[in-house]
Amino acid sequence: MDKADKLSFDMLLGHLKAASEATRLRLLFLLAQSELTVSDLTTILGQSQPRISRHLKLLCDAGIIERFPEGAWVYYRLVDRGAGSFLTRHILSHLDEADAQLTRDQERLEGVRRAQADAANTYFDANAREWDEVRKRHVPEAAVEEAILACLPDLDFKNHLDVGTGTGRIIELFAPRVERALGIDANPRMLSVARNKLTQAICPVQVRQADIYNLTLQSNVLGPEFDLVTIHQVLHYLDDPALALSEVARVTAPLGHWIIVDFASHKLEFMRSDYAHRRLGFTDEQMHSWFRGVGMTPIKVQKLAPEKISGEELTVTIWIAKKQ
Ligand SMILES: C[S@@+](CC[C@H](N)C(=O)[O-])C[C@H]1O[C@@H](n2cnc3c(N)ncnc32)[C@H](O)[C@@H]1O
Repeated sequence: MDKADKLSFDMLLGHLKAASEATRLRLLFLLAQSELTVSDLTTILGQSQPRISRHLKLLCDAGIIERFPEGAWVYYRLVDRGAGSFLTRHILSHLDEADAQLTRDQERLEGVRRAQADAANTYFDANAREWDEVRKRHVPEAAVEEAILACLPDLDFKNHLDVGTGTGRIIELFAPRVERALGIDANPRMLSVARNKLTQAICPVQVRQADIYNLTLQSNVLGPEFDLVTIHQVLHYLDDPALALSEVARVTAPLGHWIIVDFASHKLEFMRSDYAHRRLGFTDEQMHSWFRGVGMTPIKVQKLAPEKISGEELTVTIWIAKKQ
């Protein structure tokens, strides 16, 4: 074992003390699966917010978890570097997940996720028909599309997967450069607009209802491996983008490319209440650490000129990555 994998006596003691309490161990079990807010954790554990916050503070002070504010919400996650992180994972790997308490926590976590997905679904149900217009509201669409097409200029692709395809615009955009395309989306209304709109004239296209967290695609659809994956303005609707990206990496071909388009980190809190966003954009650092964690190498970042909305900047970012 390297010296870097070791903890000082005091740190090891602090780590073990912090983890050795029932609620805190449950919190660690949950945070090992997902980044979560205090409000999510309060709902799942059924304990008061001050109590949960106290436990979270203790785990933060011991360097086991970290907090990151994002607008009015604060997310918590396991620290994912250093000896302490190995120790936490090691401790958790010995937990029997069939334990009655953990099973209940797990079910409540899934309930929280379902409720969040339902909120986004309700929004897209209501906006499916007008989505092609809604999309233009906060972003300079032509400039974004031009930049997306220009970012891997010399490459054509065999199998294109567009994740969260919505009404299928990104499939249309890449159709002249791919042999075939598959769009997946969780929302049937968005997909029915896509089905009506997408023509088979340029390349064979299929759209399927599927969840980004589970891309176990049936054998009659394209793939199973995709050399181009696009995810356009989808990740900010997800409660766990890192988990989603690990599933997308699983169906990405060796040397395959990702083009991910989303907002840079921003402060427009109303995007949550009015447009069902969960995350207020992403930093390059966050995105790149997720890429590396699932075997994708970041190769390029492009930022478009920011739009000014309610006095705050909203910047569309294109992140390109390649599978090792
Ligand atoms: C903002 S729209 C973007 C649609 C399209 N990519 C575009 O840019 O026009 C986000 C899409 O992500 C889909 N979505 C949200 N959560 C999803 C999930 N868990 N799995 C698959 N699709 C999801 C929504 O149904 C919606 O169609």
